[in-house]
Parts: sequence; structure tokens; C-alpha cells
Amino acid sequence: MAINNVGIIGCGTMGLGIAHVCAQAGRQVVAVKATPGSTDKAQATLDKGLARIVDRGKMDAAEKDAIMGRVTFTDNESAVADCDLVIESIIEDIATKKELFRRLEGICREDTMLTSNTSTLSVTAMMAVCNKRDRIAGLHFFNPAPVMKLVEIIHAFETSEKVIQDLNTFCKEIGKDPVIVQDTTGFIVNRLLTPYMLNAIRMLERGTGTIEGIDHAMMAGAGHPMGPFQLADYIGLDVVEAMSMNIFMDVRHEHHAPPHTLNRLVQLGYLGRKTGKGFYDYSQRPPVQNPLLSRPVV
Ligand code: 3HC
Repeated sequence: MAINNVGIIGCGTMGLGIAHVCAQAGRQVVAVKATPGSTDKAQATLDKGLARIVDRGKMDAAEKDAIMGRVTFTDNESAVADCDLVIESIIEDIATKKELFRRLEGICREDTMLTSNTSTLSVTAMMAVCNKRDRIAGLHFFNPAPVMKLVEIIHAFETSEKVIQDLNTFCKEIGKDPVIVQDTTGFIVNRLLTPYMLNAIRMLERGTGTIEGIDHAMMAGAGHPMGPFQLADYIGLDVVEAMSMNIFMDVRHEHHAPPHTLNRLVQLGYLGRKTGKGFYDYSQRPPVQNPLLSRPVV
């Protein structure tokens, strides 16, 4: 089935990034703010992100206007009724996602593909609350969505092959490089990346190296664009903690449990770049190691 109209539920970093990608590829997008209220902030955030690309000379102003013109912002979920594909990108809470899927079944056409951008939760659990299950799947984008080429297409328990193939074609058409993954906790990338970041934190706790030292080692020695602490701050420490807990709850192995330092930073509201402080302190340029972490936190 051709996918021309895309509904995106959730206007956070990922939702807006996915809206950008789809609209840039010529799709009409309905971007739904998941909580009731003004959509001005979401609209301004997308506009500002596109303006930055124009300023860098990588897009002309007419293209930016065309992209903005293809995105309709609303706080009314029913606006996705005519979409061919819906991608939910709301809070990582399984109960909230299940309720949303239940409502979407009542709103959308029978043939609308309903997908989740979850980082680690079970798409099959979302599918389980639906009646027409073959059109439910995962579409997992990576941050920043306009830059990262990968989309994991999550094959949940009863997803049809036809839907997987339609999503595969769609991902390629919007310029992505997809991979099909069976529905297991963390899929491929987060299942590998999460323990990697947790191990870096444990390494810090053991005194193996400093935050900057470990980051430098992984960039200069393994060719990563960011070190593990920069990456954790970029993803958001609350998200990293939640991914860790979800994997831990699945496999029940201590190795996957969030380390003490991560728990403490999240408890203190130091969630990384989005709050200005995490493993690094972003109030300084260039950012410096969070001074709180210069002594043992145990
Ligand atoms: N939107 C659009 N474009 C963006 C962008 C954004 N938010 N952020 C960066 N860019 C573009 C820039 O415009 C620039 O484009 P250009 O080369 O055409 O000028 C390009 O990306 C590079 O950006 P910068 O020069 O500002 O910075 P860097 O070269 O340091 O790259 C980065 C930034 C792309 C974020 C790079 O550091 C990187 O790839 N980091 C790793 C990111 C990663 O691993 N993401 C996956 C996280 S896991 C995940 O998302 C799963 C989820 O479930 C948690």
C-alpha cells in the first residue's frame, strides 16, 4: 500500500524529527501533540531546526517552507483518521501506549498501519490490545532522526509480511536504510548500545578513567562519533535508565541493571543535554565533566 499521509503522535524530539523526515520526503504529515494544549512550541521547534539547516546552506528557504507547509499540527488525535500510517512517539510507558493503540483502532481505517517508535518496549504487548493485529509493527528511528539512516522495522508476533514489506519500501522512499528485526527487548541497536553505556558508567565508578578520558578513547580508538557519556547525555539519562530497566526486567541479569551513578543523576533531575547537566555540564562551552562526579558517588 502506498503511504502518502503519515500521522505522528507525540511532538517530542523524536516525533518532530520523524515529521521532518516524512515531510521532507513529500509526505503529508499530521503531527499530534500527545497532551492537550497549544502546538505553538512544537511548530516553533521544527521551524527552528529547519532554519538552522538553511543557515548552514544545506537547504533553501523554499524547501523549508514546503516542509513546514506539509505538516499540520494539532492536539486532536482524531486528525489521523485518514492517514495511511501512524507512528506513535509518546512517553515510554507501556500502559499509556496500549491505551493509545486501543484508541487508534477506533479512529483509523482498517488498513492503516499502526506503528510504535518505542526504544525497548514490546510491540507485541501493544498489538495484544488490538483486534486487527496484522497491521501493527514497530518503526524505530534514531536520534537525530533527520541524520541517522537506520530505521528498525519491528516484526511483532502477528505482523503480516505485507505490512513489513510496505514499511520497508516506505523507509527506503523517505531516504532511510531499514533493517527488519524480530520483537525482542531493545531490538538490535539499543540492546547493544545500552549495556555499552552502562559498562562505561561502571568503568567510571571503578576509577578506570575519567568521563572525558573514556569518551576520548571510544572516539579516537573505535571511531565512534560520540563517546558513551556524550551519547548517554544526548539520548537523555532518564531514557537510558528506562531502557536499562526494560532490558533488566526482561532478562533479569544484574549486568543490565542501571548503575548507581545513573540512578543518582536521574533522581537529581540531571538528565543530560536537555536539562543542561548530566555526565557533562553544558552551561560551559565546551562542556566540562559534571563536577559532582569528580568524587565517588557511592
Ligand atoms: N536535525 C537535523 N540535522 C542535524 C541535527 C538535528 N537534530 N543534528 C545534527 N544535524 C546535522 C547537521 O546539520 C550536520 O549536517 P551537515 O553535515 O549536512 O552540515 C550533521 O548533522 C552533523 O552535525 P554537527 O556538525 O552539528 O555535529 P556532529 O558532526 O558532531 O554530528 C551527530 C552530530 C550527528 C549527532 C553525531 O555526533 C552522531 O552521529 N552521534 C551519534 C548519535 C547516535 O548514536 N544516535 C543514536 C542514539 S540511540 C537512539 O536514538 C535510539 C533511541 O531509542 C534512544
